[in-house]
Amino acid sequence: MSVKQLFDLTGKVALVTGGSRGLGLQMAEALGEMGARLAITARKAEELATAKAHLEQQGIEVLTVAGDLSQFERIPDLVGAVLDHYGRIDILVNNAGASWGAPAEDYPFEAWMKVINLNVNGMFFLTQEVGRRAFIPQRSGKVIVTASIAGLRGNPPHMPTIAYNAAKGADVNFVRALAAEWGRYNINVNAICPGFFPSKMSNGLLQQMGDEIVAHTPLGRLGGEEDLKGAVVYLASEASRHVTGHALVVDGGSGTY
Ligand SMILES: NC(=O)c1ccc[n+]([C@@H]2O[C@H](COP(=O)([O-])OP(=O)(O)OC[C@H]3O[C@@H](n4cnc5c(N)ncnc54)[C@H](OP(=O)(O)O)[C@@H]3O)[C@@H](O)[C@H]2O)c1
Repeated sequence: MSVKQLFDLTGKVALVTGGSRGLGLQMAEALGEMGARLAITARKAEELATAKAHLEQQGIEVLTVAGDLSQFERIPDLVGAVLDHYGRIDILVNNAGASWGAPAEDYPFEAWMKVINLNVNGMFFLTQEVGRRAFIPQRSGKVIVTASIAGLRGNPPHMPTIAYNAAKGADVNFVRALAAEWGRYNINVNAICPGFFPSKMSNGLLQQMGDEIVAHTPLGRLGGEEDLKGAVVYLASEASRHVTGHALVVDGGSGTY
């Protein structure tokens, strides 16, 4: 296979959670540009419709499925809708995520549950369902989890996001453990650890601390609109055939010192 063929995703079906905006939409677009047919999910149907129109303008086939991933009982129907429509799933990008800022000693119970339920619990139950119904029977699949550099370290003292760091750390070790279990089924399981990218989720923080973050980033910039595209296509394609249990850091070098 040529390198171009190794990266080609023609005919593949990719399910991207949180694909309606932000990093999820960027990654969905990248997979679509490389030939994948997409299923994107999020809670807000109108944002999904806007994302679908944007992707379809580029000739990318898109199914939207609205739903809350922290309502675990709905996950079988979500996977069923994608399988009914496309007949298969080849790539699962577990990207939907949320954060909450509060000092650990005052962290609200509901906030802790919300962050862990979405970033860890829903992510696992969806992966399990896709594994059972698609990847394991077909003996192939690519699981990608959007973790974060917050899963590899703590934060500056004035950035209190204890549940988020705990969840993203869990995501990083989740891919190692699942890679060990599902390698026998020819399933690759990897994480992407982005640094700071402007998005609905990060904008408040970046308004307060953006200059400080950029100053501590060797490449001197935040993540941009194309900066996850290469990473996700690599991990979704045959180019990463021999890579599993890995956390690929895309952070402008902010974790190097
Ligand atoms: N931006 C950064 O700097 C950064 C850095 C590292 C990692 N990340 C990670 O990247 C991922 C995407 O974040 P983002 O920055 O792109 O944030 P974002 O713009 O807020 O996007 C979050 C996406 O997840 C969906 N979502 C949120 N809660 C959901 C729920 N309960 N059920 C289903 N879907 C839900 C949102 O759609 P609805 O609101 O319609 O549900 C949206 O599509 C997250 O996992 C985040 O932790 C972001």
